Amino acid sequence: MDATDSAYVCRRCGQGLSRRDGELACPNCGVTVPIADGIPRFPVPAAVDNAAHETFFDRLAPVYETPVWFQPLYRFVGGATAPRDDRSTIASMLALEAEFATEPAAEGDTEAPSVLDVACGTGRITRRVARDAASVLGVDISGGMLERARRYAVREGLGNVAFARMSADELWIDDGAFDRVACCWALHLFPDVDAALAELRRVLRPGGRLVGTTIVDEYVLGAAPVRAVARLTVGAEPFDVDSFRDRLREAGFSHLEFDRRGAALFFRARAE
Ligand SMILES: C[S@@+](CC[C@H](N)C(=O)[O-])C[C@H]1O[C@@H](n2cnc3c(N)ncnc32)[C@H](O)[C@@H]1O
Ligand SMILES: [Zn+2]
Repeated sequence: MDATDSAYVCRRCGQGLSRRDGELACPNCGVTVPIADGIPRFPVPAAVDNAAHETFFDRLAPVYETPVWFQPLYRFVGGATAPRDDRSTIASMLALEAEFATEPAAEGDTEAPSVLDVACGTGRITRRVARDAASVLGVDISGGMLERARRYAVREGLGNVAFARMSADELWIDDGAFDRVACCWALHLFPDVDAALAELRRVLRPGGRLVGTTIVDEYVLGAAPVRAVARLTVGAEPFDVDSFRDRLREAGFSHLEFDRRGAALFFRARAE
């Protein structure tokens, strides 16, 4: 059993799932979710399952954390003023422990928080956050990314981390199950952003925080040819900052804080 098993619920009937040999099962309606290589594989919507970028990320997984991918792309998108290490920035924005807190603790913040890392990829952020969180569940649609994520976490001996295949817009997770949600470098990839934001809000407890990064149509991504490359390679659609703010509010978030560096937008919001 993983530390985060109690967060899973059946999307058909709302019951908690229980783990038995090689699968998670709903004791009420009989839905089963296979577990392969230690990773539960929840059903994902057809539009997501067929998306070209899933295969892209499967293939990218082996090089994603090597010097050829994330860092150069981050520098290109974020420019010279972006934080050197986005993982530390995200960990600090999540306010996981008192010395990192940038605002008074919310009611109920008595112990280390539980964190859901949506679109966790190879677990770059998941592993960093696990140092200070009670537990972290990383979810992603790409099996290739998740298999790497699990391997890296095992190699680092992290016992409070689990991974599952799930789509951001159809989380098999209970309402209010997490104190924090992270969603980094991914919202611009989702086919249904508003459905995903509504899900991120739903799985946060009231007063819980959403922290993340995405890309906006400024700086290098202000140029139409660069946006076209982003769209054609990974299906990325950079946001307009103002409409992104409106969409967060629409999904039930308040206390919005934005920090734009180049075309990279760091954001934090509170679940109403
Ligand atoms: C650029 S990577 C970011 C990974 C990680 N958050 C990080 O900061 O390194 C984007 C990830 O989003 C995932 N993704 C794309 N669409 C998704 C969806 N609908 N639900 C969950 N994950 C998705 C991809 O598989 C990929 O692993
Ligand atoms: Zn059920």
